[in-house]
Amino acid sequence: MKNLEKIVYDKLTEHPKRINHTKGVIQTAVNLCKAHGVNENDCYLAALFHDYTKYDTVEVHEKYLGKEFIKKYEKQPFLYHPYSGAIALKELVPEVSDYVLNAIRYHTWCRPNATKLDKIIFIADKCEPNRVYPDAKMIYELALKDLDEALIYALKSNVKHLETKNLFPHPDQIKTLVHYQVKKENL
Ligand SMILES: [Fe+2]
Ligand SMILES: [Fe+2]
Repeated sequence: MKNLEKIVYDKLTEHPKRINHTKGVIQTAVNLCKAHGVNENDCYLAALFHDYTKYDTVEVHEKYLGKEFIKKYEKQPFLYHPYSGAIALKELVPEVSDYVLNAIRYHTWCRPNATKLDKIIFIADKCEPNRVYPDAKMIYELALKDLDEALIYALKSNVKHLETKNLFPHPDQIKTLVHYQVKKENL
């Protein structure tokens, strides 16, 4: 594990804030794993690699993802790194599980029918200690008790934030939000 840590932090060496963020996500995600009975090693690996390819060029992302994917999300280039990060980890650790890789793939907006680990990495990314926006603390408090509640709150918070910038949420983001709102109503 130590070696993987070095690989990630060396790659992000010019981005000390991203290193701190990654450490914050690890810490928060491990806390949430303890609260919800999720394997801590899986959690650690997903958190460590979730932003591994964040600063790669489009050319590098294209090598991992192919031309079609790059074209499909050209208006949301921030969606490249979750998918390329998962592929990069698979190359480094071929025996890594899909359970871990999916948590990396879906860390931006999560997804309907997510695993507990998907939810934890998504939530930890939004509320680790370096996130200082007002909703972050609430997201963490909710997540200790109920991951779905925290997920809904985090997605709504993001939609609100986009609105203040006159931006629209992505349809996949809304689909995920509606999925969990309907699930909650049907409980
Ligand atoms: Fe990310
Ligand atoms: Fe992140």
